[in-house]
Amino acid sequence: MLKKLFAKKPLRRVRIAGSDVEFEVGRNQTVLESALAAGLAYPHDCTVGTCGTCRSRLLSGKVDAITPFGYTLSREELEAGFILACQAVPESDLEIEVEMGSAQVVRTAAKLVAQRDLTHDIRAVTWQTDAPVHYRAGQYMNVTWPGAPGPRSYSFSAAPLEGGQTQLTSFIRKVPGGAFTERLFGEDLSSVSFEIEAPHGSFWLRDGAGPILLIGGGSGLSPLISLLEDAAARGVQRDALLLFGGRAERDLYCGDEIASLAQRWAGRFEFRPVLSDEPADGIRVGMVTSEIRAAMAWLGDTPELQAYLCGPPGMIDAGVAELVAAGVGLGEIHYDKFTDASSRSS
Ligand SMILES: Cc1cc2nc3c(=O)[nH]c(=O)nc-3n(C[C@H](O)[C@H](O)[C@H](O)COP(=O)(O)OP(=O)(O)OC[C@H]3O[C@@H](n4cnc5c(N)ncnc54)[C@H](O)[C@@H]3O)c2cc1C
Ligand code: FES
Repeated sequence: MLKKLFAKKPLRRVRIAGSDVEFEVGRNQTVLESALAAGLAYPHDCTVGTCGTCRSRLLSGKVDAITPFGYTLSREELEAGFILACQAVPESDLEIEVEMGSAQVVRTAAKLVAQRDLTHDIRAVTWQTDAPVHYRAGQYMNVTWPGAPGPRSYSFSAAPLEGGQTQLTSFIRKVPGGAFTERLFGEDLSSVSFEIEAPHGSFWLRDGAGPILLIGGGSGLSPLISLLEDAAARGVQRDALLLFGGRAERDLYCGDEIASLAQRWAGRFEFRPVLSDEPADGIRVGMVTSEIRAAMAWLGDTPELQAYLCGPPGMIDAGVAELVAAGVGLGEIHYDKFTDASSRSS
């Protein structure tokens, strides 16, 4: 009996489906820890089970969850076999489906060189880096500074440049009580030595011929604009509908950029702002997620539809549930939840 209790757990092997990638997971280590130790660009951010970035589908094998996946993943995702790699300790060999990042992650010094107000609480913020960063439209960077309580993630708002770039811009919302954003909006940070690590994430436009439904809230417009600008520049010929949710008219921004995108877009393009609290002339009223069915109908209600959601965790959870209820497969739903310190403590 004692022998069994203290017996060493065997090392487990993880195979990434559709690739020749295989790695070993150390005793009591998570899938994510071992993947990163093996030098793989496994998608991740918080590493504590709250952001959902390491969401992967378990095709075979068994895992133990350090914290229940259900705190972050929806019932639909759990039923479809999704796990959180940062919380999953293998109990057998595993086969996992996940999209690895491709570009080399760079860590570089950076200075904050420009800021422009977009709304009363969102700014376009630009860092100048020492080394060029290569990213895919939709991805994000991790930013730290001396004394930072931890990295802060910010999604790129511009289409990437071929050959990489040293100017990185993101739309950043002021979070009341936030360690970084309170300083950003209240102090001159031009002399602060930042460090940027990028690219991260797997929120990019998947190949396909079907229409694209994009849903954003707050600063969640940042990667959606990047993704749309990049697709427009590449001449992507797919119908697209952008739903954007705010509380009041003062929360709407990037009107000129979106109008310009609509003109350059090769397929049909529609922008639908939705306001939850204060009605305004000609603008839909309600929760942005309540517009999903009408948006899908405009896009032709086809199984080829792909959905891309970005912004507050609550909006994403409601959006994923609505999309699944409307018949969209989880494999066609891609999202980045903008979690912060308050999500991590819950
Ligand atoms: C993948 C990803 C991409 C993102 N992209 C963007 C983006 O493009 N634009 C953007 O604006 N944001 C983005 N975010 C969010 C961003 O990373 C930060 O979380 C956000 O800017 C807040 O940072 P902060 O330091 O100001 O606030 P934090 O210090 O994280 O605090 C946030 C809130 O939590 C409260 N809080 C702090 N500690 C605790 C605690 N222990 N318990 C309870 N509450 C607490 C604070 O008072 C505050 O209200 C992204 C997040 C992720 C995960
Ligand atoms: S990295 Fe696993 S949930 Fe955030």
